[in-house]
Amino acid sequence: MHSRADRTENEMNDRYARSLDDADAFWLEEAKRLDWDRFPSKAGNASFDPVDIKWFEDGRLNLCHNAIDRHLADKGDKVALHFEPDDPKGEARSLTFSDLHALVVRMANALKAIGVAKGDRVTIYMPMVPEGVAAMLACARIGAVHSVVFGGFSPSALAGRIVDCESRFVVTADAGRRGGKPVALKANVDAALAQDGVEVEAVLVVRHTGDEIDWVEGRDRWFDEVASDDPVPCEEMDAEDPLFALYTSGSTGKPKGVLHTTGGYGVWTALTFAEVFDHRPDDVYWCTADIGWITGHSYVAYGPLLNGATQVVFEGVPTWPDAGRFWDVCDKYGVTLFYTAPTAIRALMREGDDPVTSRSLDSLRILGTVGEPINPEAWRWYSEVVGNGRCPVVDTWWQTETGGVMITSLPGTPTKPGAAGRPMVGVEPLIVDGEGAVLKCAAEGNLCIARSWPGQARTVYGDHQRFIDTYFSTFPGRYFTGDGCRRDEDGFYWITGRVDDVLNVSGHRMGTAEIESALVAHPKVAEAAVVGYPHDIKGQGIYAYVTPMEGIEGDDALDAELRQQVRGDIGPIATPDHLHFTAALPKTRSGKIMRRILRKIAENDYGALGDTSTLADPSVVDALIEGRKS
Ligand code: PRX
Repeated sequence: MHSRADRTENEMNDRYARSLDDADAFWLEEAKRLDWDRFPSKAGNASFDPVDIKWFEDGRLNLCHNAIDRHLADKGDKVALHFEPDDPKGEARSLTFSDLHALVVRMANALKAIGVAKGDRVTIYMPMVPEGVAAMLACARIGAVHSVVFGGFSPSALAGRIVDCESRFVVTADAGRRGGKPVALKANVDAALAQDGVEVEAVLVVRHTGDEIDWVEGRDRWFDEVASDDPVPCEEMDAEDPLFALYTSGSTGKPKGVLHTTGGYGVWTALTFAEVFDHRPDDVYWCTADIGWITGHSYVAYGPLLNGATQVVFEGVPTWPDAGRFWDVCDKYGVTLFYTAPTAIRALMREGDDPVTSRSLDSLRILGTVGEPINPEAWRWYSEVVGNGRCPVVDTWWQTETGGVMITSLPGTPTKPGAAGRPMVGVEPLIVDGEGAVLKCAAEGNLCIARSWPGQARTVYGDHQRFIDTYFSTFPGRYFTGDGCRRDEDGFYWITGRVDDVLNVSGHRMGTAEIESALVAHPKVAEAAVVGYPHDIKGQGIYAYVTPMEGIEGDDALDAELRQQVRGDIGPIATPDHLHFTAALPKTRSGKIMRRILRKIAENDYGALGDTSTLADPSVVDALIEGRKS
């Protein structure tokens, strides 16, 4: 049941049909991928109207047990994590499942020592090191709910996420290293906790770089000093107990804590990992995503370990010290399954073929991509140069909210460069027009999902109404992804990008509203509007139109201040690529900013501005075009 290598395409089609036609039996069978303390009697119990999603609800299990403990009997000596540090000359470490078990138990003891109990939220702000993964699994072990915050987010962004999920505990490291540069994690935690209204009971600090850090007596605790090896049993959890919240951006408001629960998420990540990567026991898998993103949750911390896989955990970046770094790591560990983002592929493609062809890469078997649409040119380079024409490329479409891969070409099935592919088992995509009418056969429109699947998010932390409003109200009774999509005559899905005000910059999801509110928080800014525009490497770049306050000059100094403002408020990944000062923004007579026009101008596409007759002051557009050209 666990390998799909021997399934023919017809068998796979039958399996897909059964996953929809006989869903309960199908999912109860799939649930056997995990060990349960109490096996569920029923699979899905989910409705999109009203919104109430439950899977395997009378089942009981623990995902840390499933990811580690249950492998100890036969895989204790198998490597779970090969840790490769940022600096190639740094200290690499390989942890077997037994070693990882010991580390997770120490982490669980440390969490208990600082006061964490079942149900508590724990904010994890860590570099890409084994202790980061261990902190997530230790939370799962004792029934705490983790909220991982990407180490590149600023103190303000971290503070907002600590407050929103009422977390009283932070796990961090002294510092991290990325591309040879320090990342001041502990200092950022200190700055976040210095903000008004942000208070925690304890900060657990892992010693990683040895950098000097400030210390708050009574609050800060060294991991090494509080950890112990006492046995910590795996807490028996209800399938619907929360496993984690992960903050992600939408078109409005602050980022929301997308909540995933235990049983369904576990089954979904275990199954999708096994199938998408056709995982075999001797594979060495490497996903380059950070644990701060959903990909690092589902396909670093959970999916691979639930399958007993050996994987690489990499602290660094693709192009440091040189553009061969990824490929050196692949050769060093004999990576067979490699999973990265189109933005990394494009950045490496730009460096030419030499850094790839000068390495062996013979071990590679399957190449995956995730996070944003991949342009056919990058797809072909990945397939032909990196994969030497012999590795299937799986382009996996999914989202923080979907918990795991939803649409992909499975290895061994036909692929088309640039198409995500076809739905996973249990996934019933719909393409609907602007009014919600379902479009049949080949069609283009809004991508919805017709029915629940086990890995679906259950709610937004602390705000179920926002969950309903965001995902289920545009097209009632359906989950709306926010993506546009085309289905071709062969049933392949081509994701065309977001149809809402969400940007995808280097595979990182960002709300235009968030960046705008960071900009207008600056005292010299009257108004701001942010749009995306095509960017060769990042996929989308950030283009910010800014109207300074009356009497303020939009000069280089203000430009620099505003970039700093966004970095400070959100983080470097949200820094605008282009700041455009303008005396006015194009608005309708009712005062609504016409973003369509702003997008076209940012794209340098002045011929297609469309109807501008509803503008309050059409001359604004000419001035903007002048400003864009200058
Ligand atoms: O627009 C889609 C894009 O990334 C969005 C989800 O972002 P996030 O929740 O951060 O999760 C990213 C990693 C799963 C989607 O709404 N996206 C993700 N994967 C693809 C993609 N767009 C096209 N092709 C993909 N393979």
